[in-house]
Amino acid sequence: MTATPYYITTAISYPNGTPHIGHAYETIAADVMARFKRLDGFDVRFMTGTDEHGQKMQTTAEKQGKTAKELADENSARFKAMNDALGISYDRFIRTTDPDHYEASQAIWKRMEENGDIYLDKYAGWYSVRDEAYYAEDETEERDGQRYAIATGTEVEWTEEESYFFRLSKYADKLLELYATQGYIYPESRRNELTSFVKGGLNDLSISRTTFDWGVPVPGNDKHVMYVWVDALTNYLTGLGYPNTEGELFTKYWPADLHLVGKEIVRFHTIIWPCILMALDLPLPKKVYGHGWLIVDGAKMSKSVGNVVDPIALIEEFGADAIRYFLLREITLGQDGNISRDALINRINSDLANDLGNLLHRTLSMAKKYRGGVIAKGTEETAFDASLEEMAAETVKMYTAQMEAMELSPAIRTVWAFIARTNKYIDETAPWTLAKDEAKAGQLDSVLYHLVEALHITSILIAPFMPVTARRIHAQLGFADDFDAVQLADIAHWGRVADGHMVGTAKQLFPRIEIV
Ligand code: MSP
Repeated sequence: MTATPYYITTAISYPNGTPHIGHAYETIAADVMARFKRLDGFDVRFMTGTDEHGQKMQTTAEKQGKTAKELADENSARFKAMNDALGISYDRFIRTTDPDHYEASQAIWKRMEENGDIYLDKYAGWYSVRDEAYYAEDETEERDGQRYAIATGTEVEWTEEESYFFRLSKYADKLLELYATQGYIYPESRRNELTSFVKGGLNDLSISRTTFDWGVPVPGNDKHVMYVWVDALTNYLTGLGYPNTEGELFTKYWPADLHLVGKEIVRFHTIIWPCILMALDLPLPKKVYGHGWLIVDGAKMSKSVGNVVDPIALIEEFGADAIRYFLLREITLGQDGNISRDALINRINSDLANDLGNLLHRTLSMAKKYRGGVIAKGTEETAFDASLEEMAAETVKMYTAQMEAMELSPAIRTVWAFIARTNKYIDETAPWTLAKDEAKAGQLDSVLYHLVEALHITSILIAPFMPVTARRIHAQLGFADDFDAVQLADIAHWGRVADGHMVGTAKQLFPRIEIV
């Protein structure tokens, strides 16, 4: 049976500065989904990258005395390095300055033009360089002689230029049909907002610029570069080999299963993007998920507040897995969430060092002490054993349902409830007492077996969140060679650990961190 394809993407970040923890959060969340789907037997393609054109890039570069390409090279490398340090399992890190992306962007342009969806006219309106977006008069307000976009608070400037337009208005009815599709937009609340926005009438979209030249040239008219959002959204097609729609990647993975993006850019992905795809006669992505924003110590991250968190420094201090765990445990994916250093350290100490680390350490020490590390399938099952088995099965089921629904924090809590239950099981069964009584040898075997099996299951369930830790647990449990081969289906039934299995040596997973 061939595996079902699953194509997942993040937004591509502007490399006009260095990456911060908010960027890390998005790629981690997407990576967790990608790893979960692989674990669940899907054939996954996962893409992330950088969005390098536009006025913001050009202006920032000029201020720094660089070319836009130099700035992009420098910072794109930092985004890539951040993703590598976080263990992000992307299949391609796309840059919109990659040659094949120019080809794909120009190809979509020509195709839309042939379909009669592009025309040349003049544009006058309020442009925000920070958002790389035009706003209507009533979407802006004036304060102290400067106009701002109401939605994002960014400065807007009056801009007039010759521009190509995309016939967005033509697709309004089809968009409304699309929004009626259950599950297309998440969170659901956005759907109503978008529906009333589209019902209010769509204007055609200005899709080229003449006031600067850092962009993909418009085919046949070099005076114009493409509007950065048009080329940026196209990255999802470039990554599958577009314009070759007959190629292996494209036929296998398009349409995308999931575009995971921040809440503020959901509208680009649910208005402009599906309309472009309709103009190209291509099938539409199955889901756009808008995640919330990270705030730090109660405030929006900003250079002036001085609370911008550098993910690389955090990884160096605490390790990538701890950061991955913390962010996804602490924050509900569809909502904004606050992070702080204290909260991070508390999670590491209580959840990772204590609950998980101690369970592993206690289990391996007892296995070594009482049985020389050899795990026998127990002959005498107790009611405690049966209830642990039952909870393991329920845990796998519930975790799977939560992960499929992208309820990542609840899925972690499900696993931690099982870890807590397993710790309690040690106290209930008191192996140190069983070990003193020869007549209880069969029961002791059963307890040790149950602990190793429970930890084996746990290591697989946490693998999407903490891939390095999961592998280390797996190795300590004595399953070193098996890790990449295990699938979710393998742990659906109790008893995967073989009779006579030999466990490895205990090593500390997470040292406790003293709060100074
Ligand atoms: N380049 C566009 C996206 C184009 S997608 C075809 C862009 N870039 S960005 O660098 O501003 O943001 C990249 C992603 O990071 C967005 O999804 C955005 O929501 C996310 N985040 C940026 N700051 C964030 C937080 N503080 N918290 C969580 N995610 C945030 O938009």
